[in-house]
Amino acid sequence: MNCISVKNVSYKYPYTEGFALKELNYEFEKGKCYGIIGANGSGKTTFCNLLRGMIPHFFEGELTGDVFIEETDVRNWDSNLLSTKIGYIFQNPFTQISGIKETVFEEIALGLENLGMEKEALIDRVIEVVKLLKLEQLIKKNPNNLSGGQKQRVAFASIIAMNNDIIVIDEPTSQLDPESTAEIFSIINLLRNQGKTIFLVEHKVDLIAEYSDEVIVLKDGQITLSGSTQEVLSNMDLLQMGVMLPQASMLSYDMQKANKQLDSIAITKSQVIEQIKQRVGV
Ligand SMILES: Nc1ncnc2c1ncn2[C@@H]1O[C@H](COP(=O)(O)OP(=O)(O)O)[C@@H](O)[C@H]1O
Ligand SMILES: [Mg+2]
Repeated sequence: MNCISVKNVSYKYPYTEGFALKELNYEFEKGKCYGIIGANGSGKTTFCNLLRGMIPHFFEGELTGDVFIEETDVRNWDSNLLSTKIGYIFQNPFTQISGIKETVFEEIALGLENLGMEKEALIDRVIEVVKLLKLEQLIKKNPNNLSGGQKQRVAFASIIAMNNDIIVIDEPTSQLDPESTAEIFSIINLLRNQGKTIFLVEHKVDLIAEYSDEVIVLKDGQITLSGSTQEVLSNMDLLQMGVMLPQASMLSYDMQKANKQLDSIAITKSQVIEQIKQRVGV
């Protein structure tokens, strides 16, 4: 089943000259993880705002074409209902913490509290999420005193507690160190395994290569390349679109140049290892 369909969509912010999104078409299936990449200013965050209905429910401006979320025109969705359907996690871990709760436990419960969930069920749900994300050590701490990586994990916990079907994640690791980045990606993997539909904006293409099913490349508000992760991330044209290739693809092309090519262009480290093993016969 299609989860979100985008048909001929263009969008212009108020008081701006050009369109930030141009003639977009895509069918997003339920349960897949979509990587969204592109240079700065290419329209990734705007696209996220479109997918989660903030355009047109919050942002004014000019929207043409249609967005269907679970077969219903985004314009006909109730915006409160949309926010329970689609969770959103963004770049800055420091502004995602509410600032009004004194413990991590209460912070994670906040969204559920706003939904009016009954206290006992709410506590059960928070405990479940805390265990799932291994946040036991943090629950009594003041969320304001956490590190960036810890705050981002708490932000994920709050979203997971809400049990949204669709999760839009906009550059979640851009302010995190490699260790926290790895922790966040193991959480994203967990969400994938739960069958959530995920939209993930991320500059680290090596991670996109590992975790997404399909990749959309934006350039100047247009989809310039899209399709299976393997196909897109092994395409040299990416370099002209302001996007790096994964290290494994670069290595594959270097091997090709040196006349020592692998059987196919690898996009992940494990694919490279597999091919080398086959070649040396282990
Ligand atoms: N709130 C806004 N009002 C007007 N223009 C905006 C707004 N947000 C983004 N833009 C413009 O839309 C274009 C795409 O921006 P954005 O979606 O933030 O790109 P990315 O996330 O890929 O860096 C840019 O030209 C940016 O200046
Ligand atoms: Mg952005």
